[in-house]
Amino acid sequence: MTKELEIRKCNKCGNVTEIFHGEGADLVCCGQKMESLEEQTADTATEKHVPFIEEIEDGYKVVIGENQLHPMIDTHYIEWIELIVDNNIYRKKLQPNDKPEAIFKVEKSNNVIAREYCNIHGLWKSNIQ
Ligand SMILES: [Fe+2]
Repeated sequence: MTKELEIRKCNKCGNVTEIFHGEGADLVCCGQKMESLEEQTADTATEKHVPFIEEIEDGYKVVIGENQLHPMIDTHYIEWIELIVDNNIYRKKLQPNDKPEAIFKVEKSNNVIAREYCNIHGLWKSNIQ
């Protein structure tokens, strides 16, 4: 069964999708079930994959990561950064050689989550600290 905001990946062709409306049947791609990606988390100070959320004047800046930037080379990079503020979802798509960061000019809230997807190391999440 799918879950709202779950990220699914096809381990055969590499398709990645986000579930907008959950509780339906499992997703299948290339003839097999799509893997549900775990939202990994850790201390932002030591793990360069964890989104570091900084409150700025007109919203939030998200950097991957806090003390050491994640690589942005052709073979290993952050594909997108997502910010979830209450029921609003914002996403910035990135390319190799971009900075691993995103600025979201949004209304402030106490309920802020950031997620990012690394093409090699998968899905990572943090909450505002
Ligand atoms: Fe990575």
